[in-house]
Amino acid sequence: MALSFFYVFEESRADWLSLFGDVELKSWLLFFIAARSSVCSQVLLQVEICEIEGNIFRLKIDEATPLRARYKVPDVLTKEPTTQRLFISQKEAGILVLSSVSEDYKLQVTANPFQVELQSKGETVLSMNSNGLLYFEHLQPLPCDRYTAKSGNSRTMNDRGKQEDLGLWQEKFGSFLDVKAHGPSSVGTDFSLHGFDHVYGIPQHTEALLLKNTSDGDAYRLYNLDIFGHKIHDKIGIYGSVPLLLAHKPNRTAGIFWLNSSETLVDISTKAVPLSSGSAAEAAKQRAVPLTDVRWMSESGIIDVFLLMGPTAFDIFKQFAQLTGTQALPPLFSLGYHQCRWNYEDEQDVKAVDAGFDEHDIPYDVIWLDIEHTDGKRYFTWDKKKFQNPRKMQEHLRKKKRKLVVIVDPHIKIDPTYTLYSQAKDKGYFVKDRNGQDFEGICWPGSSCYLDFTNPEVRKWYADQFTFKTYKGSTNILFVWNDMNEPSVFKGAELTMQKDAVHYNNWEHREVHNLYGFYQQMATAEGLIRRSSGKERPFVLTRSFFAGSQKYGAVWTGDNTAEWSYLKISIPMLLTISMAGISFCGADVGGFIGDPEPELLVRWYQAGAYQPFFRGHSNMESKRREPWLFGEKNTQIIREAIRERYVLLPYLYTLFYRAHTAAEPVMRPLWVEFPGKIETFGVENEYMLGNALLVHPVTEQEAKAVSVLLPGSEEVRMNMKLLSCSVQRSVIPVFQRGGTVIPLKTRAAKSTEWMIDISYELHVALDTEACAIGELYLDDGHSFQYLHKKQFLYQKFTFQKNILSSSGKYHTTCVVERVIVLGFGQQPTFVTACSKDGKGKEVVFTYNMKTSALTLENLALSVDADWQIYIN
Ligand code: NOJ
Repeated sequence: MALSFFYVFEESRADWLSLFGDVELKSWLLFFIAARSSVCSQVLLQVEICEIEGNIFRLKIDEATPLRARYKVPDVLTKEPTTQRLFISQKEAGILVLSSVSEDYKLQVTANPFQVELQSKGETVLSMNSNGLLYFEHLQPLPCDRYTAKSGNSRTMNDRGKQEDLGLWQEKFGSFLDVKAHGPSSVGTDFSLHGFDHVYGIPQHTEALLLKNTSDGDAYRLYNLDIFGHKIHDKIGIYGSVPLLLAHKPNRTAGIFWLNSSETLVDISTKAVPLSSGSAAEAAKQRAVPLTDVRWMSESGIIDVFLLMGPTAFDIFKQFAQLTGTQALPPLFSLGYHQCRWNYEDEQDVKAVDAGFDEHDIPYDVIWLDIEHTDGKRYFTWDKKKFQNPRKMQEHLRKKKRKLVVIVDPHIKIDPTYTLYSQAKDKGYFVKDRNGQDFEGICWPGSSCYLDFTNPEVRKWYADQFTFKTYKGSTNILFVWNDMNEPSVFKGAELTMQKDAVHYNNWEHREVHNLYGFYQQMATAEGLIRRSSGKERPFVLTRSFFAGSQKYGAVWTGDNTAEWSYLKISIPMLLTISMAGISFCGADVGGFIGDPEPELLVRWYQAGAYQPFFRGHSNMESKRREPWLFGEKNTQIIREAIRERYVLLPYLYTLFYRAHTAAEPVMRPLWVEFPGKIETFGVENEYMLGNALLVHPVTEQEAKAVSVLLPGSEEVRMNMKLLSCSVQRSVIPVFQRGGTVIPLKTRAAKSTEWMIDISYELHVALDTEACAIGELYLDDGHSFQYLHKKQFLYQKFTFQKNILSSSGKYHTTCVVERVIVLGFGQQPTFVTACSKDGKGKEVVFTYNMKTSALTLENLALSVDADWQIYIN
């Protein structure tokens, strides 16, 4: 099908003029835009628009015939998306309207000015280039080559005009010179989100949950950087980037995923616009509606943007996961508590800390070793004096049913006697500088080279380094921490790699910068899977990340400070990362830099116990802070918080299964669960853990009480919205939502592995109709058998008409011992439990009139069986 449709794009600015041309409509809409520039009379830009299964639209703009191919982000999309057919429903001069198969969506392409508008059932949801900010710096010949071609002169650039031209080909940053081998190549455009004034996402910034207006300040920057002691409330990018923005209004959520891995800026401006056009007086009388303009600008690459049409937040999460994958299912141990420090000094120290947990009766699963455990910061090696027998140390931990995590950074010490270095050097596996030599930078070991993880061959070789044979002293209880992978280059421009460094296939670092850490974690996870011959789930923590990193493990928020404000900001930061697909995230408990006062440390443990990744960590200069060093009272409270975490693990693990299979974030902002309640849209001091628990961590010093917002209909009945909850130091304000059942363990033990046979307890919180539902996911906790052999339990619990039922299939010897029904109206007369074969037995119960809580004891009902409890 061919139609006339062409544009002129003048001087890389957004003055589009309708001209002539062809539109091809297969499963893609394909047409060309002509751009005029100072160099050539016309440059064609190719525009592709398509609908992808599941309410997603993709818009791609690239040069039709670039001087050389422009970078298109590979490896982030899990597969080539399946497109849906679009139909032309209207065609007239300068306007083309396409409809989706379901006719729910209409896509209007306007020629002059060039705009794309997306409507859902007649409602305009978003439009592209409404502000005319589309730009595309097409690739040009080097100015000297152009002059040379014209005048036949050599490549000397002493003429002023030529110098100015070259300005776009070179940039100075302090003492650094960035030589742009392929010239300026930035791209950008604007999107208007109609009716939206709440936008979220685009981690990672130390910022509030709601994205702020940037009209009179800095744009949000997406550029992975190692910023030690970073400030809070700052729009500069740190460590990781996910270019996904979400917009929400009461009846709809939408998303924009800008697939570009070069340095990216996002400008946001929210305003109110009159409901319809007309005279100014008429307009003034009318209601104004909000509109948010989002402008994306990237240093390089192409425009490749996915418009996620929701319409609910959970649909957006699914759509993003359809493109980039879901959260890897973590091994159960990694949801326990992790004890880290820079550094645990030696084997004796490790043993002593491990013993300390038992002595103080505090559960924990993993002890961590930072860079000092290596032989001179040569990763994959051990300091021979301090760690003389790492295997023996790991056997000791294994007996205690615990694990070890060691750090493996991406920089490699330049040392010809270090096998990893010499092999990588010989094979040409390092990133090159602009002159073709191995790029050298300074990091922990001193002069270092950087593995080029963008090369699949390097990733394979790197993955092989984790085999037990190659990684001497490693065992299968050792897991990995990838740090400094922005990459961090001390004394480098902005402490990272120069943009003109060169990677695999000759791509400049500027193109792939935000992907570097993503690739290292990918290779590491692959290595851990491979060392177990594909049987065991890996655990890899990374500091740097990109869209899709959720497939490879966990992330943490980097070097925070031991201050109350950092504890507070950790909540919106983790919520933002979670909404961007990475559920397995956490912040260093206690704050990495400095020394927390005991009250702060205690409150941080309480917050961390209800966050997905739970690790205490501290800097080298910080005082030791194992949980028992702050007096008996504080030890007791920390112990309680960690035990609460362990008791909660069946629920948390079930949530991770939901994240893995259905892309539901484990930790989610209130508005996601209560999308119609405007009062929740900006809430960032409390959040939901799954759909059942509302958590309001205490983040104020000497707090005596916190005001908790309890959204939903119940509190309206009680005529109050804010509940004042008193919070003496031992209290963590956590509330269960009416209508839910959560599975817990009846008690905690030394580590997750010690808890396998401990019985379950169900907390049934009734809604106003006296109903509740919930579920429990259970598997062996470590292998891929759940996937390959479908060996898992997925038990559903329903409470209706005073009957609690359990149904599912999988074998475990574990039992449900206790059930607590909250909000039960009156004292029952008798309770019976019946198995599937109809056999019944009477159940012992107690009823508390004051709290309306009914407790059923000594049940011994198999978790894997179908049964019912009748309450009469
Ligand atoms: C920086 C990391 O953010 C921190 O957690 C770690 O302890 C140090 N590097 C030393 O490896």
